[in-house]
Amino acid sequence: MDKKARAKERREKRRQEISLLRTIPYSDHQRWWSPDTVAVVTGANRGIGFEIAHQLAMDGLTVILTSRDTGVGDAAAKVLQDGGLNVFFHQLDIVNPLSIETFTDWIQQSYGGLDILVNNAGINFNVGSDNSVESAEKVIETNYFGTKNMIKAMIPLMRPSASGARIVNVSSRLGRLNGRRNRIGNLTLRAQLEDVDSLSEELIGGAMDTFLQQAKDGTWESGGWPKVFTDYSLSKLAVNAYTRLMARILSDRPEGHKIYINCYCPGWVKTAMTGWAGHITPEEGADTAVWLALLPDLSISGKFFAERREINF
Ligand SMILES: NC(=O)c1ccc[n+]([C@@H]2O[C@H](COP(=O)([O-])OP(=O)(O)OC[C@H]3O[C@@H](n4cnc5c(N)ncnc54)[C@H](OP(=O)(O)O)[C@@H]3O)[C@@H](O)[C@H]2O)c1
Repeated sequence: MDKKARAKERREKRRQEISLLRTIPYSDHQRWWSPDTVAVVTGANRGIGFEIAHQLAMDGLTVILTSRDTGVGDAAAKVLQDGGLNVFFHQLDIVNPLSIETFTDWIQQSYGGLDILVNNAGINFNVGSDNSVESAEKVIETNYFGTKNMIKAMIPLMRPSASGARIVNVSSRLGRLNGRRNRIGNLTLRAQLEDVDSLSEELIGGAMDTFLQQAKDGTWESGGWPKVFTDYSLSKLAVNAYTRLMARILSDRPEGHKIYINCYCPGWVKTAMTGWAGHITPEEGADTAVWLALLPDLSISGKFFAERREINF
């Protein structure tokens, strides 16, 4: 059997294992949440985000399904409400400061805060073997800075609890620092990004600025950046680095006020982003986000997951 066939077989086996795991209900003592537990999902009008909202609501939480477009967001929430689920819609564009501010005020006034934040909203303009950086600014602005904006805005509103509040960032293996392929060629930068003690917003933002400047002046191809979906991969690399940085910053919060933050790769999923190509369904792609959001006794933070398993950054 060749390498590709073996990988396919492994994938299929893991899919079956996870689909079996999903049929096992949480026991009463594992259920740290209640119908009053509030989960916010960004970009939840379709794709993986919609499924994350669906599955969290099926598990009995109150879900705030957000979308930058009011019409489609409202319609998506109605689908879940018609199924008897506790889902509410609010407009949220993660790159619009006014939209974030309005949402922040609303969630504070309506629920006194939130318990779970799933940063799912994201964009990508490359498909197949394309690698244009024409939309690099937009991609990095949304995937990295939008996610960071949401984390900053929501942290002060995360409600104290014995189980800890949770942040799950939907990322991608394409943004791995140490993947077998698609690495950053600049060894100094890679070492700096790898060392959690030297990580800073300035370091991550500086790397994004350097790339964006090179994308603008046409020199990015010799910059040693990831070769596949360069702008998207870098935006997710920044999300991964920021996850580790925030885990370090949040780690000294006292018991009862803990916030755990992790990221995961959903796999290659059949959604609009991939032109409905991919190995797996949005239901399967949503699984690890929901698992991380609901893990009983979660004390894991600053880690990267795929298919419910920790993987290296
Ligand atoms: N599909 C995959 O194979 C794959 C693999 C790895 C990671 N991911 C990640 O998974 C996440 C979900 O992707 P998907 O595959 O479900 O793609 P999708 O169907 O294109 O969904 C993306 C969602 O993000 C929303 N969004 C984009 N910009 C936004 C903004 N500024 N504010 C709020 N929402 C915004 C979109 O809203 P509109 O409907 O208004 O555009 C849409 O709801 C993304 O972070 C993506 O990078 C996907």
